[in-house]
Parts: sequence; structure tokens; C-alpha cells
Amino acid sequence: MVVYNVKLKNGSEIQIAPLNGSINVKQIANFINSLVEERSFISRDKKITHHEQRSELKVHKKKIEEGLMEYLIALHGKNIIGQAMAERLQHRVRGNAFIRLYIAESYRQLGLGKILMYLVLNGLKRKKVVNAYIEVAEKNIPAIKFYKKLGFKKVALLPNWMEFDGNYINAIGMIMELKNHVEKAYGPYENIL
Ligand SMILES: CC(C)(COP(=O)(O)OP(=O)(O)OC[C@H]1O[C@@H](n2cnc3c(N)ncnc32)[C@H](O)[C@@H]1OP(=O)(O)O)[C@@H](O)C(=O)NCCC(=O)NCCS
Repeated sequence: MVVYNVKLKNGSEIQIAPLNGSINVKQIANFINSLVEERSFISRDKKITHHEQRSELKVHKKKIEEGLMEYLIALHGKNIIGQAMAERLQHRVRGNAFIRLYIAESYRQLGLGKILMYLVLNGLKRKKVVNAYIEVAEKNIPAIKFYKKLGFKKVALLPNWMEFDGNYINAIGMIMELKNHVEKAYGPYENIL
């Protein structure tokens, strides 16, 4: 298993590794629930229970074994501070992968999202995936800026796609053609990417 040791922009030394046996259900649930509590623009709006998280993890591990999922976790000590998941679609749409990326609130804008995304996209490119796809709330301006910066292009408007406090809001679909993905970033993270 490859473990990347990374220094973030604030000097924190963190690790990035594929999902593995040392990560437990409680750690992942706590991380996801911190995003729910924050009311971030992720699709989950209710806290996940340990039971639900355990079942979800089983499904994810099976997909990883089948080569249908890339799942990276960023840890600061024992705390999960970020995760990136890419799920390959199947059959005629097997050339595409759907990506989810979450960074803990206090670790944003330190370069971690960019590193996780590069690592995931590199993995997909090696597996000959053609397109990486994300869906993002139209109001999630930081995330849209982030994805544009990395080279994702808006390809769809998804009207009234997500429910927030009883109102439906638009989302947008963005795609990165992996042939355009630059496998190396420039700057301090060049060596690990
Ligand atoms: C979107 C998200 C993943 C970005 O991760 P991050 O670790 O904060 O991003 P990085 O520090 O790697 O930023 C990379 C680039 O994105 C852009 N960016 C990131 N956050 C930004 C913000 N709040 N405002 C403007 N630009 C931003 C910057 O241009 C930055 O460029 P730089 O490398 O030259 O500084 C993170 O904000 C997040 O997890 N948000 C909550 C969950 C979420 O909304 N996920 C996406 C759901 S679709």
C-alpha cells in the first residue's frame, strides 16, 4: 500500500493512503458527520449512523476489490481530514467515473483537495478511464472555483437538483477529460504527484 507523507501549506504533516483496514467505521462516520453538521453542500443531509456507515463501507470495499472504485483517505494523526472517492460506471458508460471529494473545514485552502484530486485522477488515467465527472451545487462557489482551477468544464445544468431546507436548488455537472489531465502538479507537491 502506498502512503504519501505530505506537508500542507500551514506546515501540518499529514498522510494520504488508500482505504485500508486501519481505518474504522467510527472515524469515517465522524468525518462525514462533521460535514453534515457544517451544512456543507454535500448530498447527505442527515448524520450517518455507525450501522449505515458499516454497510456503506462493505459496498465500497467490494467495489475497490472489483477495480470499480478508488478511495483515498487523508489523515492528520488519527483524524480523517479529507477523502476522495471515484466510482467507475459500468457497461457502455464504463469509460466514466463519478468523483466525490470532501475536505474537513479547518483543513481547506491548504492544498489538500488539489493533491487528493490529482492522485485520484492519476489512478483513473492509469485505468484508461476517459472522463471524470462531478456534480456540484450551483451555490457552492468555492468548489466550483476549485474544479475550474483543476481543469473541469461545466457541461450541464441540473435544475432543481438538490433539496436545501425545503427548497430545490440547481446543481451543475462538470467533466474533466482525462487526456487533458496533467499528471504532475507544479510547486511544492510536484514530488509526490
Ligand atoms: C471544494 C474543496 C474540496 C476544495 O478543497 P481545498 O483543499 O480547500 O482546495 P485547495 O486548497 O487544494 O485549493 C486548490 C485551488 O482551488 C481554489 N479554491 C479552493 N478553495 C477556494 C475558495 N474557498 N475560494 C476560491 N478558490 C478556492 C483555489 O484557486 C486553489 O488554488 P491555489 O492552489 O492556487 O491556492 C473543499 O472546499 C471542500 O471539501 N468543501 C466542502 C465539501 C464540498 O463542497 N465538496 C465538493 C462537493 S461537489
